[in-house]
Amino acid sequence: MYYIGVDLGTSSVKLLLMDGAGQICKITSREYDLEFPHPGWSQQNPYDWFEQSMDGLKELLSECDKSQVAGISFGGQMHGLVVLDADDNVIRPAILWNDNRTTKQVDYLNNVIGKDKLSEYTANIAFAGFTAPKILWMKENEPENFAKIEKIMLPKDYLAYRLSGSFCTDYSDASGMLLLDVKNRKWSKEMMDICGITEEKLPKLYESYEVVGTLLPEIASELGLSTDVKVIAGAGDNAAAAVGTGTVGDGKCNISLGTSGTIFISSKNFGVDDNNALHSFDHADGAYHLMGCMLSAASCNKWWMEEIIGTSDFAKEQAGIDKLGENHVFYLPYLMGERSPHNDPNARGAFVGMTMDSTRTDMTQAVLEGVVFALRDSFEVAKSLGIKIERTKICGGGAKSPLWKEMLANILNISVDVVETEEGPSMGGAMLAAVGCGEYESVEAAAQAIVKVVDTVEPTPELAAKYDKRYQEFKQIYPALKGVFQNM
Ligand code: XUL
Repeated sequence: MYYIGVDLGTSSVKLLLMDGAGQICKITSREYDLEFPHPGWSQQNPYDWFEQSMDGLKELLSECDKSQVAGISFGGQMHGLVVLDADDNVIRPAILWNDNRTTKQVDYLNNVIGKDKLSEYTANIAFAGFTAPKILWMKENEPENFAKIEKIMLPKDYLAYRLSGSFCTDYSDASGMLLLDVKNRKWSKEMMDICGITEEKLPKLYESYEVVGTLLPEIASELGLSTDVKVIAGAGDNAAAAVGTGTVGDGKCNISLGTSGTIFISSKNFGVDDNNALHSFDHADGAYHLMGCMLSAASCNKWWMEEIIGTSDFAKEQAGIDKLGENHVFYLPYLMGERSPHNDPNARGAFVGMTMDSTRTDMTQAVLEGVVFALRDSFEVAKSLGIKIERTKICGGGAKSPLWKEMLANILNISVDVVETEEGPSMGGAMLAAVGCGEYESVEAAAQAIVKVVDTVEPTPELAAKYDKRYQEFKQIYPALKGVFQNM
């Protein structure tokens, strides 16, 4: 049988067709626009997601025996607020995970309601990108739109709704709404009251590998598929990526270098850190995870390459970098503000330390290093909780760069295991579909059978020591500039 995984990303939707043994048969993708109507705002049109996904699905399925397609599932960009009215029209563009308009609402939640209460209700505190502050923002700034809300959902859930008619979400993605009692896997009554919404407006909760419905007749006929094809809940893109790299069960780590950068630690047990610096979320395997998320990771490199120095040949630009650990230029990657661990929407990008002999290559190197230094900030929080991380998997666009993997191994001083497919969320989505259709008995069993490590990048003591010294310098820069950013 065949299984489809849909990765509903920020710049594009990636679609992957996998057979029952976990072999990838085909991958397609479609792009869509991202709007920045004001500095720090970030929105997208859910109709574009649906249309581009349908278009991509048609190409994905064009050469396969469609009668063998059994299920479809998703990994979706997290936290985005999608709101529908009584006629299922999208009320306003979706407000995305990297949108920073909710500073006032975050301040209200964290300081008036209070972090302790939020953490008690949801296991998390408010961050600008989370969904609950966006609901409060709509209530305050767009009362007419707010009054029309009948359904609140997350980006991938809009696809599931259009494909199956099922108003559903999964625990991993719902965790990032600040509306879910993560520990007990149920909506928080207190948070619904704070946001002025009722449970009927929220989707039904499922485990990521559970079937939520089957394809609607009009969708099945447009794609040439049977109405028996199952739609499986899916997961937030990070949890789906973790499934796709085999980061399930206890104490495993996955790092994603995509538009965002995340460090994801799977856990059999529920846990929260005292400062809520890391997110405490449900995992797609039925258990839990901790996660640090930086808002701009591979997107910093893309911005630097394409917008600033004007090249699309990333590999050629990186080929000139030959002095790892010795660069005197530093880069702060906070182009969209920062989530973990600073929780500062006002943070900004910066280059520091240039001299007359600094080169374009030094600055390219600084961008790549700055992203990994900032990931290390979250890694250090995890270590301070007593979590031992000796190795990690890696996925996302940045995983294609051998140099970035070497930096990661040495800056974090851990082994980096490279898996056969770095597709992450789309692979995880297809694996969740396979579990939902009964091809594997659990997410862990699917990961064990399918995910293969093909290479490991090891740190070297000398380079790790050089980078450790540089990290100690890096970590002084943000606190020194924080006040400047605040007043910009
Ligand atoms: C995670 C997060 C991002 C998005 C990217 O908390 O906000 O990783 O999910 O799609």
